[in-house]
Amino acid sequence: MSLEKKSAEKSIVILISGRGSNMASLLSAVASGKLPVRIAGVISNRPDAQGLVMAAAHGVPTCVVDHQQFADREAFDTAMAAAIDQLAPDLVVLAGFMRILTDGFVQHFAGRLMNIHPSLLPSFPGLHTHRRALEAGVRIHGCTVHFVTPTLDHGPVIVQAAVPVLDGDDEAGLAARVLAQEHQVYPMAVRWFAEGRLRLADGRVVLDVAQDAAGLLIAPVAL
Ligand code: GAR
Repeated sequence: MSLEKKSAEKSIVILISGRGSNMASLLSAVASGKLPVRIAGVISNRPDAQGLVMAAAHGVPTCVVDHQQFADREAFDTAMAAAIDQLAPDLVVLAGFMRILTDGFVQHFAGRLMNIHPSLLPSFPGLHTHRRALEAGVRIHGCTVHFVTPTLDHGPVIVQAAVPVLDGDDEAGLAARVLAQEHQVYPMAVRWFAEGRLRLADGRVVLDVAQDAAGLLIAPVAL
């Protein structure tokens, strides 16, 4: 491998379905020089995703692969994989991408497909995680960045951020507290990958970071 190739900046493609606040946190980390990646594109499965407007305003190429235009999940995932492959990213970053992925799609991007989920997995996979955390009465909640495997909201954990659940919390308040941490840990995990310090080997996360300093569990003291 030539030196030029070795030091080349990694590129990422971000998949969204809606608001795009996690995407925005990645864009601003790149803009401020804290995240050394090139954002090759943002792709949405929904034409009306708010995040598309924000990405375009940052000069990032955007594209829509509308799932409603496809007969089945297989056909949609094939088209989505082709759209991603055209951009030839090193890493595919799911940022509020709310589609169940086929095994074929996951296998195609194995080891370079990352997701963020608003709970401390394996607790509360799926939807309405904050409501379910409140109903369960847990005292600690949070978010998880993980490599994607065929099982929904599952897969080797890269980093987690924990927040306390306070008496009197409602769903919106708890969601906001978790989201603030999502915006911290996702750029961090993507940076580890971009720097070649994070990879998946034999189904396990291999991470070369000073764990006492960086931590794999982010527990904020000031809230
Ligand atoms: C985020 O809370 C993300 O963790 C969650 O959707 C939200 C998207 O918000 N993802 C999942 O639930 C995936 N299972 P955003 O569009 O503002 O980033």
